[in-house]
Amino acid sequence: MMSSKRSHKLLLLHFAIFCLLLLQENCTEANVILCKESERKTLLEFKQSLQAVDSSGNDVLSSWKSKECCGWVGVSCNNLTGYVEKLDFRSKFKDVAGTISSSLLKLHHLRLLDLSYNDFNGSVIPEFFGSLKKLRYLDLSNANFGGSIPSNLGNLSMLETFRLGGNGEGLFYRHNIGNMFTVGKLEWLSHLSFLRGLDLSFVSLSSADDWSQVINKLPFLEELSLSHCDLSSISPSFSFTNFSTSLTSLDLSGNSLTSSSIYPWLFNVSSNLVSLDLSMNQLKGPIPEAFGNMITMQELYLSHNQLEGEIFKSFGNMCSLAFLDMDSNHLSTFGIVQNTSLSCTRYSLRELSLAHNQLKGNSVLNEITKLPSLSVLDLGYNLLNGTIKESIGQLPNLKVLRLAGNAFDNVVISEAHFSNLTKLRSLDLSYSYLTLKISSGWSPPFQLGFMLLCSCKIGPSFPIWLRTQTALVFLDISASEISDSLPDWFWNLVDSLVYLNMSFNQINGTLPHELRYKRHLDLSSNNFTGPLPMSLYSLWSLNLSKNKFTGSVSAICNIMEKWSLYLLDLSYNVFSREVPGCIAEFVRLKVLNLADNSLSGPVPSSLGSLASLEMLSLRGNKFSGELPSSLHNCKMLKFLDLSNNELSGEIPKWIGQSLSSLVFLSLRRNQFKGKMPHQLCGLKYVQILDLSLNNISGSLPSCFNNFTSMAQKLSLDQRIEHVFRKFL
Ligand SMILES: *[C@@H]1O[C@H](CO)[C@@H](O)[C@H](O)[C@H]1NC(C)=O
Ligand SMILES: *[C@@H]1O[C@H](CO)[C@@H](O)[C@H](O)[C@H]1NC(C)=O
Ligand SMILES: *[C@@H]1O[C@H](CO)[C@@H](O)[C@H](O)[C@H]1NC(C)=O
Ligand SMILES: *[C@@H]1O[C@H](CO)[C@@H](O)[C@H](O)[C@H]1NC(C)=O
Ligand SMILES: *[C@@H]1O[C@H](CO)[C@@H](O)[C@H](O)[C@H]1NC(C)=O
Ligand SMILES: *[C@@H]1O[C@H](CO)[C@@H](O)[C@H](O)[C@H]1NC(C)=O
Ligand SMILES: *[C@@H]1O[C@H](CO)[C@@H](O)[C@H](O)[C@H]1NC(C)=O
Ligand SMILES: *[C@@H]1O[C@H](CO)[C@@H](O)[C@H](O)[C@H]1NC(C)=O
Ligand SMILES: *[C@@H]1O[C@H](CO)[C@@H](O)[C@H](O)[C@H]1NC(C)=O
Ligand SMILES: *[C@@H]1O[C@H](CO)[C@@H](O)[C@H](O)[C@H]1NC(C)=O
Ligand SMILES: *[C@@H]1O[C@H](CO)[C@@H](O)[C@H](O)[C@H]1NC(C)=O
Ligand SMILES: *[C@@H]1O[C@H](CO)[C@@H](O)[C@H](O)[C@H]1NC(C)=O
Repeated sequence: MMSSKRSHKLLLLHFAIFCLLLLQENCTEANVILCKESERKTLLEFKQSLQAVDSSGNDVLSSWKSKECCGWVGVSCNNLTGYVEKLDFRSKFKDVAGTISSSLLKLHHLRLLDLSYNDFNGSVIPEFFGSLKKLRYLDLSNANFGGSIPSNLGNLSMLETFRLGGNGEGLFYRHNIGNMFTVGKLEWLSHLSFLRGLDLSFVSLSSADDWSQVINKLPFLEELSLSHCDLSSISPSFSFTNFSTSLTSLDLSGNSLTSSSIYPWLFNVSSNLVSLDLSMNQLKGPIPEAFGNMITMQELYLSHNQLEGEIFKSFGNMCSLAFLDMDSNHLSTFGIVQNTSLSCTRYSLRELSLAHNQLKGNSVLNEITKLPSLSVLDLGYNLLNGTIKESIGQLPNLKVLRLAGNAFDNVVISEAHFSNLTKLRSLDLSYSYLTLKISSGWSPPFQLGFMLLCSCKIGPSFPIWLRTQTALVFLDISASEISDSLPDWFWNLVDSLVYLNMSFNQINGTLPHELRYKRHLDLSSNNFTGPLPMSLYSLWSLNLSKNKFTGSVSAICNIMEKWSLYLLDLSYNVFSREVPGCIAEFVRLKVLNLADNSLSGPVPSSLGSLASLEMLSLRGNKFSGELPSSLHNCKMLKFLDLSNNELSGEIPKWIGQSLSSLVFLSLRRNQFKGKMPHQLCGLKYVQILDLSLNNISGSLPSCFNNFTSMAQKLSLDQRIEHVFRKFL
């Protein structure tokens, strides 16, 4: 639990975009078949009624065929007796259509059942689980179970680990708010007296008024998670006396605990805590020095509270403290790191997050350099300013450094600031307004995976030292005042990239013939010229707007895996000729912006295949002819700008009938003629409707006063802002 939380944090810091789940399968190479035929039948019954499929819709348990059931995915047997002892289906099933068969009761030796991180579609936990008497380990967490908890689970008297957390309003995993478990009396839980691990997170305990007495009765408890349980106070009778020495990990995050409701007993019973999570509560005021007495503590999470004042003072004696997360509080001073009483924390602290606080000046950075073990340092979004000493470059273990969102206007950092950061993997200086003065011959001591330098001053020359960074996954050098031509070697770097943002510079250059590029590519607002690449690999978003690209847009037909693209912005370039019919294959497109080019020909009817389209702009081109009626399929459209073209014919009736989500519609400056169809009154959300500079005759339909959205008291500018902000 601890390590998964820590890595979650790391993921956030790294802006990681994807995660790999390596499913391990146990292969038994035994010649002797261990599997009991009766248990094999039982398992097949279980499979039959479960009907579980993975994310591609395939039968997850399709490999369950051989005689040796002990080698089947998820199944482990005792290697002497051959009885099935463990069923581990953690994150195996994307969807479960059937039910969990009570045939499992025939597995008399079952000790472990793990159904966590699956999707049971809100179904109830089967009553018969209460009869799996040999169970030592039952994990039902994050599995989208619903309803109420069967109280006969209290019969599982051998249970040592019981996880139920994250059902309903599942943590980071799922967001189907609304079917959170609510429990009444928890008396049954007190029968599980061998419990060492208990996870009830996201189970509402607000009507379980006996929960503290019940938990008090569990003498061996080591790990307790009551995260997001609707707790607003801890009853004084919650003494923990029965397990105050055994408890090592306590998670009370996401409740409404106040300082006065938690500190008194916490500091009294917490003798052996190794991990404590009080994040997302209502702790206020200065950090109590009593934290310093928790000398066994290794991981302390206090983020998202309203703690104030000085940070370091309170943590003095915590000689094991390695991980401290105080993100999003009101902390203003770091304090002085002294050699004496603080020496132990000084050497133990490895990961420190103080982002989103009110730390001022540069003293924090100076003190930080006295913490030689630091590997993750996040000071993002504070009020830091002033010069940064080169000593920051002497933190030999630093892997992640984030100073983003501070106000180091015109503060210069140089090679010396990085001199010994050999382990640095992730550097985020975005919106810190730092100036990077680095000589062109610099060879950095690190190989970065994540480099976020948005709005730093790097230019005017293109940073040559980037050439040494061959393991980049995420590169953002947008708005960094680069005014130079793109070096030839640059495109050799991008093979490993999943995110590249060089927007808002004045970089000139051309795109390579083949761009093996993935996910997000943003080169907008530069001086790029030339044609689109002849081949492009799976992209999610492609923004080349505001450059001087030329030629035909037909090259987009060469994009591999067209279904993955949701944003295509080629606006403000010099593209010419027709829009290719292959546009129909970009079925996930939400935003298609081809505005202000020299495109011509008809508006392609294949656009009608883009059922997800929310924004379409063809403004400022030379499109001619009538609007294809297929466009009425684009029912999600909110923004449609066809202004400044040579479109003709009557204004189609289907615009008002089918495109009823439109907020913005402009047909301005075209050659539409005839009457304004009264169907336009169906546009009940429209805020901007511009039909000017056409040849439209007749009178306004009287229903125009039905445009209630338009009557909101916003200036035209505000309305345009409002609409455009989402897309542009
Ligand atoms: C049997 O399992 C036990 C514990 O699971 C393991 O220590 C032992 O090495 C196994 N024996 C064989 C022969 O695989
Ligand atoms: C999930 O549950 C909903 C309603 O509870 C039902 O409509 C839907 O068919 C279920 N899905 C599956 C895969 O069983
Ligand atoms: C244990 O199971 C029996 C029958 O299966 C049931 O009557 C009893 O209420 C259960 N006890 C608890 C504590 O759930
Ligand atoms: C401690 O646990 C025992 C056994 O479960 C129980 O009888 C006793 O009441 C508990 N003590 C407290 C203070 O809850
Ligand atoms: C700690 O608990 C003991 C016994 O329950 C009590 O006498 C003492 O006042 C408590 N101390 C604090 C600081 O709450
Ligand atoms: C702390 O220790 C370092 C050497 O480890 C020493 O140079 C420095 O003067 C000490 N500072 C204080 C305040 O004692
Ligand atoms: C840092 O910011 C404060 C106000 O927030 C200002 O008074 C001070 O002069 C700034 N220091 C430097 C070195 O810019
Ligand atoms: C970098 O580390 C080396 C060896 O660890 C050390 O000799 C050198 O002084 C350090 N340089 C800086 C600038 O801290
Ligand atoms: C690229 O950076 C700019 C600002 O620097 C930002 O507005 C834009 O959203 C970024 N593009 C992507 C795809 O994240
Ligand atoms: C980029 O284009 C602008 C405007 O056309 C021009 O002023 C500037 O010199 C160009 N910069 C480069 C590096 O080509
Ligand atoms: C690109 O920018 C460089 C530096 O400003 C300039 O010398 C060069 O002429 C530009 N090339 C083009 C094709 O605009
Ligand atoms: C306009 O609003 C009136 C009254 O709210 C309603 O009766 C009428 O059907 C609406 N007209 C159209 C075209 O939606």
